[in-house]
Amino acid sequence: MATDRTPDNIYANPLETIVDFKFDDQVVGVFADMINRSVPGYSTIIKSLGILASQYAQPDSRCYDLGCSLGAATLSMRQQVSQPNCRFIAIDNSEAMINRCREHLQVANCDEQVELICGDILDQNIDEASVVIMNFTLQFIAPELREQLLQRIYQGLKPGGVLLLSEKIRIDDAESDQQLIDWYHQFKRANGYSELEISQKRSALEKVLIPETLEAHQQRLQGVGFKQIQPWFQCFNFISLAAIK
Ligand SMILES: C[S@@+](CC[C@H](N)C(=O)[O-])C[C@H]1O[C@@H](n2cnc3c(N)ncnc32)[C@H](O)[C@@H]1O
Repeated sequence: MATDRTPDNIYANPLETIVDFKFDDQVVGVFADMINRSVPGYSTIIKSLGILASQYAQPDSRCYDLGCSLGAATLSMRQQVSQPNCRFIAIDNSEAMINRCREHLQVANCDEQVELICGDILDQNIDEASVVIMNFTLQFIAPELREQLLQRIYQGLKPGGVLLLSEKIRIDDAESDQQLIDWYHQFKRANGYSELEISQKRSALEKVLIPETLEAHQQRLQGVGFKQIQPWFQCFNFISLAAIK
């Protein structure tokens, strides 16, 4: 059985065909290593999401983690949020992720405080929320469906509630975009990924992870009604925003 220290070597050998990236059993088995070596500042982001959630959580409200994977952001919220009667709801549509997430919550003694749902975030009710986290999840939603999801999140948030949105971004200017990508690839090399791993993973993600510009995110968040949009993190082409209702 894979442990959380199982190294990610999914793309280490030449693959005959590179299939679209999926959050399946193979990925779940190495996910902790993969995300820590692939997302610059991941552990800082996770800790900060809990800290930010603690500033916006309201008593008797719900705190959502959409696309929760192994539950890292949920656990961070659980540690930091102290407002009374907050319910924590973590949703992912990968059964393999949800099963592993349940084990993590059990180990952390949080399984009774978190409602874990295996389902598509496009179909789930979001109600009475004071905090909604989407930590590198929106980028996997088809671009034409993103606005309606954000509208539903906005409607489900209480006044003063927050959406914490982290995304990989692109830049319209080709030269600047390439510069950020080059810096990011250097970060991956420094974390032990080979040229083959970087290029095969990039091909696998090409049609699945569709990054947008920071301006596109800000405009859409404004368009659905968020009154303050505060960027709070950037490292290379990875950003995180706090959008306040
Ligand atoms: C990059 S991972 C998110 C990382 C995670 N939020 C964290 O902080 O560690 C993206 C996750 O979103 C989930 N996902 C993608 N599309 C989804 C959808 N339509 N509904 C629910 N989950 C989805 C994937 O299964 C995957 O676990």
